[in-house]
Amino acid sequence: MRFSKRMDRFGEGIFSRLAEIKNQKLAKGEPVIDLSIGAPNIPPARRILDALCEAASRPENYVYAIRDQEYLLQAAAQWYKTRYQVELDPDTEICSLLGSQEGLSHIALSIIDGGDAVLVPDPCYPVFADGPALAGAELFYMPQKKENGYLIQLGEIPEEIARRARLMVVSYPNNPTTVMAPDSFYEELIAFAKKYDIIVIHDNAYSELVFDGKRCGSFLRFPGAKDVGVEFNSLSKTYGLAGARIGFCLGNRQVVSKLKDLKSNLDYGMFLPLQRAAAEAITGDQSCVADTRRAYESRRNVLCDGLKAIGWDMDRPEATMFVWARIPEGFTSSEAFAMELVERAGVLVTPGSAFGPSGEGHVRMALVQDEKTLEEAVRVIAASGMVSGKASL
Ligand SMILES: Cc1ncc(COP(=O)(O)O)c(C=O)c1O
Repeated sequence: MRFSKRMDRFGEGIFSRLAEIKNQKLAKGEPVIDLSIGAPNIPPARRILDALCEAASRPENYVYAIRDQEYLLQAAAQWYKTRYQVELDPDTEICSLLGSQEGLSHIALSIIDGGDAVLVPDPCYPVFADGPALAGAELFYMPQKKENGYLIQLGEIPEEIARRARLMVVSYPNNPTTVMAPDSFYEELIAFAKKYDIIVIHDNAYSELVFDGKRCGSFLRFPGAKDVGVEFNSLSKTYGLAGARIGFCLGNRQVVSKLKDLKSNLDYGMFLPLQRAAAEAITGDQSCVADTRRAYESRRNVLCDGLKAIGWDMDRPEATMFVWARIPEGFTSSEAFAMELVERAGVLVTPGSAFGPSGEGHVRMALVQDEKTLEEAVRVIAASGMVSGKASL
């Protein structure tokens, strides 16, 4: 059998090797604390489950959905108006996604042709690069480095590449670096995209997981944003609905329309009971969002303060469900450190290099365990003796 070259990108990687070590340890009866994958473990609010169950008990809801129901589009428009102060036309500026991952993996197919240049952050959430790569893009990295507060430096993108680029993906609050972007970044971004005629995708998956009383808005609230691009949003983390696969693409009507055309050939729309649950999630009582934010904030405090107390120096993240830390002194690569950490401490973290070349020297820890388990993670990391003082680099 022969398979496509594009699949070479998805060969066995560090994740499978880490999972193998985890399974070997579990088979021997040794405990493993998994902080590697960002799979949220906070359940949805009762009202969302009730809406889903009610809709799921109706036989008429098992037909192909084909398209977004009017009430869902209205709900999404209402959500963006109340939460982000952004006006959207429900019929032309909103499209549901079967999880934002689905949209991110497909959208480039509707925008670029093979060989077109696409700008992606480095490090980045992998599908930002994988989606365009599947569409045949030539990828160019926009480094997010510590010395620049992990922000993309638009002024450092070479002129020749900016001229060739058709699409760029950006995302703050950022996975994996956890930082937010100031308003000036978005103003610059919109001017840059206009100057070079580049379509922008802004992924806003973590706008609700912002800590210490800070707030975060939407890319679409900046003047001109809708002229240049779209925002992706996800109900996975905000409402504990990761397995339900619910996301949205919102903004520029031409981009939304092309994505709808593409999706109408790929899927038959979101299961109708999920459309009901989604509408309930974004328009009902929002106190569950604050509860979720508080849960992640306390987990962050337990893990970061604990690790700092045992001598692993790191910044407390201001947002997201991750901690992004420099590897401790004495280790030369993030992969070697992650491998040794799971072997010696039984704690599974993701090496920064898995997110792109600029991720080297870091690891990402996902706050997907409760506080007691995170305290235990700190204890076993201390006991391993792998953290001796300052972080490296
Ligand atoms: C930045 C970012 N975007 C998108 C996603 C995927 O979200 P969804 O569950 O909506 O596909 C994730 C998941 O971890 C993410 O971190």
